[in-house]
Amino acid sequence: MNRHIKSADRIEGDVVPPGDKSISHRAALLNSIANGAAHVSNFCVGDDRVSMLRCLRGLGVQIRRHADCTVSGAPECFEVRGRGKHGLREPTTPLNAGNSGTTMRLVSGLLAAQSFLSIISGDSSLRNRPMGRIVTPLKQMGAQVMGRQDDSLAPLAIRGGELRGIDYEMPVASAQLKSCLLIAGLHAEGETLLRQPAASRDHTERMITAMGASTWSDGLSVGVRASELTAMDVSVPADISGAAFWLVAGACHPNASVRVKGVGFNPSRTGVLDVLDEMGAGVRVENVREEAGEPKADLVVESSSLRGVRIAGDVIPRVIDELPVLALAACFAEGTTVIEDAAELRVKESDRIRATVDGLTRLGARVEERPDGMAITGGAALSGAECDSYGDHRIAMTLAVAGLLARGETVVAGAEAASVSYPAFWDTLDELTRS
Ligand code: S3P
Repeated sequence: MNRHIKSADRIEGDVVPPGDKSISHRAALLNSIANGAAHVSNFCVGDDRVSMLRCLRGLGVQIRRHADCTVSGAPECFEVRGRGKHGLREPTTPLNAGNSGTTMRLVSGLLAAQSFLSIISGDSSLRNRPMGRIVTPLKQMGAQVMGRQDDSLAPLAIRGGELRGIDYEMPVASAQLKSCLLIAGLHAEGETLLRQPAASRDHTERMITAMGASTWSDGLSVGVRASELTAMDVSVPADISGAAFWLVAGACHPNASVRVKGVGFNPSRTGVLDVLDEMGAGVRVENVREEAGEPKADLVVESSSLRGVRIAGDVIPRVIDELPVLALAACFAEGTTVIEDAAELRVKESDRIRATVDGLTRLGARVEERPDGMAITGGAALSGAECDSYGDHRIAMTLAVAGLLARGETVVAGAEAASVSYPAFWDTLDELTRS
């Protein structure tokens, strides 16, 4: 589907992005193997939620949507009936993780501990994303895992069972890999110790600890022992990755004022605020509070003068999903912004380095593709053009925001991809620009 986006005269208003995808997925999965029932409110919306819930239901978990949440008072919530650590059922058909890497990798950690056979697959993008990174350690823990191309690609066939803990040096700073192994570690004999090359989002550690698991952490290492989980209600904060589109729109547009409300403010996710701050965008953080072990805040942004920065090293895992839209911000900054150490972007829902460079170049930006990132020289005025989402939700939304900031009209092909994480994105875009 093509979306036509016109240059905006003003960007103004209050926004509440959908519930955080990473926290929603963990709340559903971990409560599925907990003792007791739990209510998850402000659950993320979109196709990725469908994928996670479909896989968990395929394992026999009862998950019911309630129009009114009697527990939290929220307008909608999901009740997850935990089946305990040993209560999952052998699926009768392959599990379909759709476009969701988090679903495939986290559910695989769970399947590795089940004595039955399961097959998990996904759409063509997911079937081409690296799975060897989870297969190798899961095998070391004692699971039988097979996949295409030397066990490196899905579909994966998993027959699990008795697992043993491992001491594992993670080759990539990936929260999906870490979470997969922590979930397997909940079921393994002895200790599972994961050594990360850099810190990635820590929602799994926080949630299993709050649900009663025996965990510890020391610098970049995280450990878990075999544990039972107790069901826990979760009120999911708004997704900072969804907020990032409006923060960049507000900072780059010359006539803007946007408040993004109730946003998850976990320090392992706030790299986008650190980078925008260094670029000179004065994002104000207001009303900081904490719910279910996760901090949240309101974020206020106004038109700003930006400068180019270097985005590299340890901040990368904390900003990994926001790099395409930060590359757009760099087009409006004085000087050159260099993004390095971000080769992981090439194995997301699309090759996000290629897709970002292609889209921004079509709009007239000066962007150079590099093996592990890109260099963007700001100051070239963007002009509306035809560009492509590459079937990737974050690219579709980045290019839509670019369309608001560019002269004339921009056409985004494959705009429907936004529904993977943010189905209301287009309505919000209309609301913020209706002046
Ligand atoms: C996620 C972790 C990140 C991120 C993805 C969600 C998670 O992936 O890109 O959108 O929920 O754990 P990696 O951990 O593979 O970098």
